[in-house]
Amino acid sequence: MAVWINGELYPDNEARISIFDHGLVVGDGVFETVKVADGQPFALTRHLARLARSAAGLGIPAPDLDQIRAGALATIDASPRVPLARMRITVTAGVGPLGSERGSSPLTAIVALAEQAAPADFVDVAVVPWPRNELGALSGLKTTSYGENVRALGYAAEHGGSEAIFGNTAGNLCEGTGTNIFAVLGGRLVTPPLSAGCLAGVTRALVIEWVGAAEETIPLADLSNAEEAFLTGTTRDVQSIRNINGLKLPSVPGPITRKAAEVFAMRAAELPNP
Ligand SMILES: Cc1ncc(COP(=O)(O)O)c(C=O)c1O
Repeated sequence: MAVWINGELYPDNEARISIFDHGLVVGDGVFETVKVADGQPFALTRHLARLARSAAGLGIPAPDLDQIRAGALATIDASPRVPLARMRITVTAGVGPLGSERGSSPLTAIVALAEQAAPADFVDVAVVPWPRNELGALSGLKTTSYGENVRALGYAAEHGGSEAIFGNTAGNLCEGTGTNIFAVLGGRLVTPPLSAGCLAGVTRALVIEWVGAAEETIPLADLSNAEEAFLTGTTRDVQSIRNINGLKLPSVPGPITRKAAEVFAMRAAELPNP
């Protein structure tokens, strides 16, 4: 696969950035993961808009979105065509000191691609004991400081899950490490509001728009009463949850989940850049 860095394409084994890059040193950067199906990026405009919002929230200069869009398309063109790939767009604060203070070098912008397996039909999840801080400075931003997610995924794996679910400091449902969560409670499809501290997922927004779901505060404890539940995310679209903490949900996939997955697949096929 090709890699694009600051306007230049490289073979992946020749792509290099500085070991003093602040993204590496302290996770001072933002990123996006974009689905690429048969060479076609999905919802690239929405992803670039979120990249800009994350950069503003982290306080780094605005990335050049036109240049990054061109870089993304050039990377896809220069890479072997595969049925499904994930495209990673990363923008860091650039070269800086070895501490948390920032340097004044230009941003580092990177586009990389990797082939991706099709998502499984369902997923087992585990709720982790550490809350997301919905009041934190980085709440709702897609920054490269994802160590908390790595730790949570490790916990989930030890507890029979392949995705970890976070509550927040108020004891309400928040999101997964790379996913948003929807549940059917009392026959209604609900998902936590952005004020819960979750990322404004592109897939989440499209499911709300195309399928309809209420954004409302959901006490974490209510998850165990869910009739059905599903995750949304770029690498999964709509994915039914089978078990939560080892307990099987009553309906997998339930009728509302199945409908959401169908509507999403249909609309996404019609509109590659919704
Ligand atoms: C923390 C977090 N929540 C939710 C999501 C789902 O967002 P999207 O649907 O845009 O992939 C992601 C992945 O991007 C994520 O990293």
